Amino acid sequence: MAQPLARLSILDRAGGKDYNRRARLGKIAMSSQPKPRILFTRDEIEATVNRLAAEIKKDYPGKSPILIGVLKGSFMFMADLIRLLDFRLEVDFIRLSSYGKGRESSGKIKVVQGLRSEVKGRDVLIIEDIVDTGLTFSFLMDYLRKKKPASLKLCALTDKPSRRQTPVTIDYLGFTVPDKFLVGYGLDWDEEFRNLPDICFLE
Ligand code: IMP
Ligand code: MG
Repeated sequence: MAQPLARLSILDRAGGKDYNRRARLGKIAMSSQPKPRILFTRDEIEATVNRLAAEIKKDYPGKSPILIGVLKGSFMFMADLIRLLDFRLEVDFIRLSSYGKGRESSGKIKVVQGLRSEVKGRDVLIIEDIVDTGLTFSFLMDYLRKKKPASLKLCALTDKPSRRQTPVTIDYLGFTVPDKFLVGYGLDWDEEFRNLPDICFLE
């Protein structure tokens, strides 16, 4: 535990300047500077990604799925996960806008960067960082279903069921998380904290 906490305090200090700048610009109040606290350590994440890879490996024998990472939050998870998958696969990314700035969902979702691959008739596995309200995922399901994939499944690193507004089936789930704002391991708060190696929550 000593190492993650030490690294966090370094990042706290590194982020200080930018907080001051943003506070001056009125984006955040100086008093509301959030501090990341560890929820899941990098070791717990590693064990969980190993488990998810084992589950996925059982279900895709002889198939060559397309794994679609939802940018940007899934990039670190995706990179760790696919290294453990020893079968043929393709990687693609889609970027959606769901959250505006800060912590609240805008509720309006659109495709900001579309897929390059042909999804029709293929096995598709979506890789998400977090399922929160579920609005992003249901939009994505509708969007991808229209492209007629052979199968469509979801692998999510984290699930925050207390905030759900629409039902979501998660085929492969890493962690169920409390109703706290998460950062780190790819997850951001207004583009900050993605580089934290542990999954943290903001105080
Ligand atoms: P949903 O549409 O509410 O399910 O939100 C999905 C997207 O919102 C996720 O893919 C994240 O990019 C973002 N999001 C939701 N909750 C959090 C959080 O706690 N931390 C960081 N991003 C989040
Ligand atoms: Mg996301």
